[in-house]
Amino acid sequence: MNTSALFDLTGKTAIVTGGGNGIGKASCKMLAAFGANVVVSDYKKEAADEVVQEIIKDGGKATAIDCDVTKDEALVRLVDETIKTYRQINILVNNVGGGAAGRESPFQIEVAQFEKIFEMNVFSMWRLCQLVAPHMKKSGYGSIINMSSMASINTSPAISAYASSKAAINHMTKNLAFDYGPDIRINAIGPGAIRTQALQTVLTPEIEKRMLVHTPLARLGQPDDIAGAVLYFAAPISAWVSGQILFVNGGGVQTLD
Ligand SMILES: NC(=O)c1ccc[n+]([C@@H]2O[C@H](COP(=O)([O-])OP(=O)(O)OC[C@H]3O[C@@H](n4cnc5c(N)ncnc54)[C@H](O)[C@@H]3O)[C@@H](O)[C@H]2O)c1
Repeated sequence: MNTSALFDLTGKTAIVTGGGNGIGKASCKMLAAFGANVVVSDYKKEAADEVVQEIIKDGGKATAIDCDVTKDEALVRLVDETIKTYRQINILVNNVGGGAAGRESPFQIEVAQFEKIFEMNVFSMWRLCQLVAPHMKKSGYGSIINMSSMASINTSPAISAYASSKAAINHMTKNLAFDYGPDIRINAIGPGAIRTQALQTVLTPEIEKRMLVHTPLARLGQPDDIAGAVLYFAAPISAWVSGQILFVNGGGVQTLD
């Protein structure tokens, strides 16, 4: 058995949204380390450029493309430019997502904010899947990875927009597996609390202490913990895995309340 081929991404092209920081950045570096040509896309172009420089310094191949996932014309351009540069698309990590960090009480937020969260977390993912699918089909190898969250199954106060948008991602992923199979696999990852800039804005020592009480592996996650799951879904080792949601959470549950 040629075990190294199971994780080999040489010659494959991966797009990662929000690749300039956090989980997206770790995913870009992981995919590049296993041979993929990585398109680091982010609406902060300088952050994406820096990630590309790091990958190239480590001997990998990468390109930065400026893209705000909430803008349809930017998604279309992302796919067009990727095809122009690498002639194919095989892996998509739909990573961008966010909410109002536990401040989503219906007594505080407006309908427009709720809509914005769904635009960023759900509509953009669905649309980018639609745009890359014909290219993946043509290439003969396609794997899509959607970034969900433990919030998709947890219940907590003041997080109804983010949590329901992430639950939508789970169900969308399971249903799209039928639409895109057998040529394209599509799975989702539900991270627990991962030490990124997004988490740092809401994490206090007290909250962290409470989270660890419910975490068998007794630490919060690092972006590389999620990048490992991204690699698994991207690579041939998961060739018969589609429509699944993998929770990567130290074996436990971490909530902000
Ligand atoms: N960090 C956690 O604890 C955690 C937990 C569960 C789920 N997640 C999910 O993981 C994903 C990544 O989170 P993170 O913590 O790494 O975030 P982060 O804030 O550390 O990084 C997000 C990246 O996305 C970029 N970005 C933001 N909005 C964008 C847009 N509209 N278009 C293009 N780029 C944009 C940012 O510039 C940044 O580079 C999100 O979907 C998030 O919901 C994170």
